[in-house]
Parts: sequence; C-alpha cells; structure tokens
Amino acid sequence: GDIALQVLDEVGSTNAEVGRRMSSGEASLPITIADCQTAGRGRRGRVWTSPRGENLYLSMGITLQGGFSRLDGLSLVLGVAVANALERLGAQGLGLKWPNDIFVPGGKLGGILVELQGELQEGVVQVIAGFGINVHAQTLGGVDQPWSSLARSYPDVRWRRNDLAGNLITAVQDALDLFSRDGFGAFLEPWQARDIFKGQSVEAKGGGVVGIAAGIDERGNYLVRTGDGTVPVRAGEISLRVV
Ligand code: BTN
Repeated sequence: GDIALQVLDEVGSTNAEVGRRMSSGEASLPITIADCQTAGRGRRGRVWTSPRGENLYLSMGITLQGGFSRLDGLSLVLGVAVANALERLGAQGLGLKWPNDIFVPGGKLGGILVELQGELQEGVVQVIAGFGINVHAQTLGGVDQPWSSLARSYPDVRWRRNDLAGNLITAVQDALDLFSRDGFGAFLEPWQARDIFKGQSVEAKGGGVVGIAAGIDERGNYLVRTGDGTVPVRAGEISLRVV
C-alpha cells in the first residue's frame, strides 16, 4: 500500500503519534519519524531514552490479516527485518534477543515495541510497530543495561539516519509481504541464526522455568529444555534472562 511519511522535529512518542493517525482513519501505511522523543516508550512500561539528533525513532502502522494469533510471529519477523536492513548497510554479526531486541557484542543496539491498536474487522488486526535504533549515541542517560550504537560498534561505516530509515522501511515491507505469503516458517532459520540465547542456561522470569535455551518453534515461542522436557515460553507472558 501507499506510505504516508511524517517527519517531526519532536514528539512525545512516535508510536502514540501513529496510533493517533490510525484512529483518525489515515492512509494505509502511516509512518512517523522524529528527531527526538520526550516520552519514548520501551517494552514492559519502560522509558526509551530518546536524545535529539542522534538516533532513529520510527513507527509504522501495520494492518495484519489472520487475527491475533499472528502477533507473536510478527514480533520476530520485525526483528529479522531490522537485522536485514542493518546488515545491508554494513553491520556484521548482529544478534537477536528473543523476542525482538537487536544486539551487538557490546550490548543492546535497539529495540522494537509492538502495540495493539485494535481490530478493524474480524481477523484484521491493526498494530503499531516502533523501532528505536541507537545510531550516533555516545551517552544515554538512565539506561540500565549494556548498550551500544551503530557508530560505536561499526566505526568504519558512515551511518546516516536517512539511509537507515529508507532501508528499514523497505526491509519491513519485504518481510511483511513474505510473512503474509509464506507464514512464519520462512523466518525460522533467519531468526535462529541470530539467536543470542542459544545453548545458554536461561530462566524464564515469572514462569520459574530454568533450562537450556533451545531456539524458537513455528509459532514464535521460545523453547527451554528442562529436566522434565522442553517448555515453550510465550512472548508477552514472560521474559528470558541468562543465568
Ligand atoms: C524496547 O524496549 O526494547 C523497545 C524500544 C522501542 C523504542 C521505539 S523508539 C520509536 C518508537 N516510539 C516509542 O515510544 N517507542 C518506539
């Protein structure tokens, strides 16, 4: 469908802005990019530190056929799309942390926030996908985990936010086309190849499951191999950490 691209100097959250645009019945693929966010949101109610001029803050309104059951898969599909876009521009050795964080050896490079907007009609779900990628950031206040930026991890590449936005939008559109045509199966291998947990000892917080990280299944659940068998962990319900 047609893209309606909006570029703002400053906004609370690009996700909230795309949500507003979708509610007011705007074009089929609304995209908002901002130079900075004053109320950037991360997963699990966290703040996404969004300084001016340094990083990419981009949200897209996505209409998904096939109902809510496809949302878990979508989240992982978007992670693969980001990795594809960044690798095309010269980022090597990217990792994905289930469900959809983007990692480099130095720490977290970016994250994706998928929020449900509503159901347009039976089986047609509207979601907002927000991408936060650290591009030039040298310092990030309030971030409580190891992180990096593209410029820091790949100093030999000349990173430009415009190139990044263009590549990201194309990669997401390509991934969504493939997802609707062939389903999640097409993303199993590309996702597993970048899995940063694989083979490590992990714990599913909230679920009490401890075991060895064993990759994802065809629905996008994360598999943890325990003494009592393999347990699937659902995104949104519990998070995983290395123990
Ligand atoms: C995470 O917690 O890892 C997800 C971070 C998502 C941040 C992006 S920045 C653009 C968009 N607008 C927001 O308020 N959040 C997302």
